[in-house]
Amino acid sequence: MSVVLGIESSCDETGIALVSDGCRVLVNDISSQIKDHAVFGGVVPEIASRKHTERITELVENVMSKSPEPIEAVAVTRGPGLMGSLLVGLSFAKAYACSKNLPCIPVHHIEGHLYSAFLEGEPPSFPFLALVVSGGHTQLIFAADHHQYELLATTRDDAVGESFDKVARLLGLPYPGGPSIQKAAETGNESAFTFPRAFADSQELAFSYSGLKTAVLYARRDNPEASISDIAASFQHAAVDALVKKTLHALRATGAPRLAVVGGVAANRLLRERLLAEASVPVHIPAFEFCTDNGAMIASAGYWRWRNGFGGELTTTARPSWKLCEQV
Ligand code: KG4
Ligand code: ZN
Repeated sequence: MSVVLGIESSCDETGIALVSDGCRVLVNDISSQIKDHAVFGGVVPEIASRKHTERITELVENVMSKSPEPIEAVAVTRGPGLMGSLLVGLSFAKAYACSKNLPCIPVHHIEGHLYSAFLEGEPPSFPFLALVVSGGHTQLIFAADHHQYELLATTRDDAVGESFDKVARLLGLPYPGGPSIQKAAETGNESAFTFPRAFADSQELAFSYSGLKTAVLYARRDNPEASISDIAASFQHAAVDALVKKTLHALRATGAPRLAVVGGVAANRLLRERLLAEASVPVHIPAFEFCTDNGAMIASAGYWRWRNGFGGELTTTARPSWKLCEQV
């Protein structure tokens, strides 16, 4: 058994976990800062890094006290993310690894999300197509093998999770927007408004969400009597429809034999149900707790990077704008 400690602090969750052999989650602890940022309607970077600093030591000590055997490595998110938040996790991980004489393995946050599909359950074998949907990313990635990725599609503007957060804010729903829009949509009519689905019917592999956000803004302005639930349901329907259509298109275009759906927005029930029903290949979607940011996915990705000969040095620096294709 090879146990890796995973540390995630790129945004507003301090995620600490122990994972054995890249797949079995032994401990998964998350300290969420939702309450600290909700009053501001979004993440405040200075508050985020301060809260990581306040909580990380106790969280790691608590998780490590549950370890069934000594760990073999420390994996940590190097980027992309908020500089201050990344620095807290990375500095802690390097110091901790150094003090225990262990390798420190820097992990790309999106590679971490890809490996969330390997946690528990049946892992996808390579190659597979991945739909990565989070607060910062909306991407279709062809994963040929471990650490071999081809970016097929990305967003031209806002990420889909960002659009859930912005639309929630303009509808007066609480942060984070994804869960609150999903909840409001439960009692709404998804056909009440017809919102745009950018690129959904074109051959182009691309996404765009800023037009959808603006369309919701105008719908709200022009229909002050309309129910929030109807707008939320119509928005969610359009946002998910664009993801599903483009993913099915990419599956046909690449002939990929499997699909993984990862990232915070993969927690969305409508998206999960539609892809499970409409994709003609096996679909791997992590359990809800592993969709949003967590330490377990970082431990899993770190395990595979270490096993394949990457990482280990203590000179790593944070990369707030790191691109997946730039990593080796
Ligand atoms: O992966 P994640 O935790 O952090 C980033 O790497 O960005 O994703 C967070 C995003 C937020 O935009 C949040 O609103 C969205 O995931 N999200 C959801 C749901 N749960 C979280 N979006 C739609 N439906 C959900 N149920
Ligand atoms: Zn994330």
